[in-house]
Amino acid sequence: MCGIVGYVGPQNALDVVLEGLRRLEYRGYDSAGVAVRVDGPDGGELAAAKKAGKLANLEKLLADEPLPESTIGIGHTRWATHGGPTDRNAHPHLSADGRVAVVHNGIIENFAALRAELEDAGIEMRSETDTEVVAHLMTAVYAGLPESPGRLAEAMRLVSGRLEGAFTLVVTHADEPDTLVASRRNSPLVVGIGDGEYFLGSDVAAFIAHTREARELGQDQVVEIDRTRGLTVTDFAGSVVEPVAYTVDWDAAAAEKGGHDWFMLKEIAEQPQAIADTLLGRLGEDGELILDEVRLSDQELRDIDKIFVVSCGTSFHAGLIAKYAIEHWTRIPVEVEVASEFRYRDPVLDRSTLVVVISQSGETMDTLMALRHAKEQKARVLAICNVNGSTIPRESDAVLYTHAGPEVAVASTKSFLAQIVACYLVGLFLAQVRGIKYADEVAAIVAELQKLPGAVEQVLTHMEPVRELGRSLADADTILFLGRHVGFPVALEGALKLKELAYIHAEGFAAGELKHGPIAVIDQGTPVVVIVPSPRSRESVHGKVVSNIQEVRARGARTIVIAEEGDDDVVPYADHLIRVPRTPTLLAPVVTTVPLQILACEIADTRGFDVDQPRNLAKSVTVE
Ligand code: F6R
Repeated sequence: MCGIVGYVGPQNALDVVLEGLRRLEYRGYDSAGVAVRVDGPDGGELAAAKKAGKLANLEKLLADEPLPESTIGIGHTRWATHGGPTDRNAHPHLSADGRVAVVHNGIIENFAALRAELEDAGIEMRSETDTEVVAHLMTAVYAGLPESPGRLAEAMRLVSGRLEGAFTLVVTHADEPDTLVASRRNSPLVVGIGDGEYFLGSDVAAFIAHTREARELGQDQVVEIDRTRGLTVTDFAGSVVEPVAYTVDWDAAAAEKGGHDWFMLKEIAEQPQAIADTLLGRLGEDGELILDEVRLSDQELRDIDKIFVVSCGTSFHAGLIAKYAIEHWTRIPVEVEVASEFRYRDPVLDRSTLVVVISQSGETMDTLMALRHAKEQKARVLAICNVNGSTIPRESDAVLYTHAGPEVAVASTKSFLAQIVACYLVGLFLAQVRGIKYADEVAAIVAELQKLPGAVEQVLTHMEPVRELGRSLADADTILFLGRHVGFPVALEGALKLKELAYIHAEGFAAGELKHGPIAVIDQGTPVVVIVPSPRSRESVHGKVVSNIQEVRARGARTIVIAEEGDDDVVPYADHLIRVPRTPTLLAPVVTTVPLQILACEIADTRGFDVDQPRNLAKSVTVE
């Protein structure tokens, strides 16, 4: 997830673009860059500046080396996906002749093939990004078109038609003094319309200080902004379409949060996209799975006889879910450990052990120290991480990035769901490399994974009763969470979210353990949340959880039941019933977690707490 800004109008473009980037920096801060189009002695030219790190680094560079005044500009704040967070990989990317500049949000899935084609044509790539190919393709396609109004937009359409994956692209050309073009597929782009000026942004926060008049672009559309001809939107085939017009009624602060009260709510809403982006580009043409960086041979992966998953907090819960899936698909034994305990108990590790470390931030000290211990013992380390180029992936032998985008709220939500999905991919990858599953079997499970964004979207549209329930639970002293099988880690995660946000005592239990002690705490009215497995899963597990609901209810509990659509067995025992879509058993945590996030957020909000920055916590815990 990156932030994109474009501007055409009478103001100094650089000022407008930088202001937009400041408001979009929450979308990524691995690097920032700008390009402006200026009149030179021999026609137009582009001037660009870019810098790794936060926007402040770029602003410092621009203060030392200012860019000329201009009325066309583009800008980018980066959340690294392809290629580390370096100056070289920062956007804008320029064509070899420096006459085209492009900024991009998304992942171009077929960039490797396009890159090879360009390299065969003698073009030397200057970055490791998927984006750079667009700058070179635009140059070649533009050169082949006759000089005419709309030439840059036509080039954008032709190039967009060649791209696969997700992209918002904004392109400026030195030969086009009046025109800026952009294109979108599976990635956001909005147009702002001011008085004689136009803005482009990943979201309205980019231009809210200038105008509230916006146009929403549809899927697979190209927008041309021309100083004299105005705004034209077409599909990729060139047919003109009318964009949806709307007026933004948020203030600037709300705009950054996408109109939500909290970043956490915004991030919960972004979960379908986070899952889709994490799956994007993982399946090669022959059905093989693709990891981002694998410094391990297939033979090393075949030699693995034991897996440890090591992580902290919410990431630890993702690891617990991973165990069920990886063991089921690979038949390799998996142990899951909290990172802070791992090295101190001297685990048995050797060359044939794979240690999977999971970390949103990539900087958690406990996890990093566990990783280093594993490497000292010669184990292989695979990182699942959300922050490109952070320490944990850098020190690991292989990396699978979750493409959840930056998570601003301290409580992990979208990165958790993306981690679970990444764990599934690791399980499938290992099963495939070791010949336990054929490519078509893997593809069948991936097809189920691809339904998850829609399923989460469906859950999100039915959350009002959960919010209402949350408001009614704001005075609870304790809330218990029960689950079996993959529902057990979901119960732990539900309890963690509640503790960290609402400061209410909460505990997650394996539902079968309840009778061994914890059931004694249940009193009249104690809220108990139960995550019910699908009745289509092993019959005995579903039936046992239904019995557990009856047991707690018989002791006075107020039962809050999360069950899939069509599961009528739970109806008589549920004081509150939250429905989720039918999902294969192992994948169910991706949908059953969502109501628990909303519940915790609503309870905390009702109690008047700061949901995004709970007391005593930090987003990245860099001490042991
Ligand atoms: C809970 C939460 C924490 C983190 C934990 C690990 O909502 O965010 O429990 O999951 O501190 O952090 P990462 O994943 O960055 O290693």
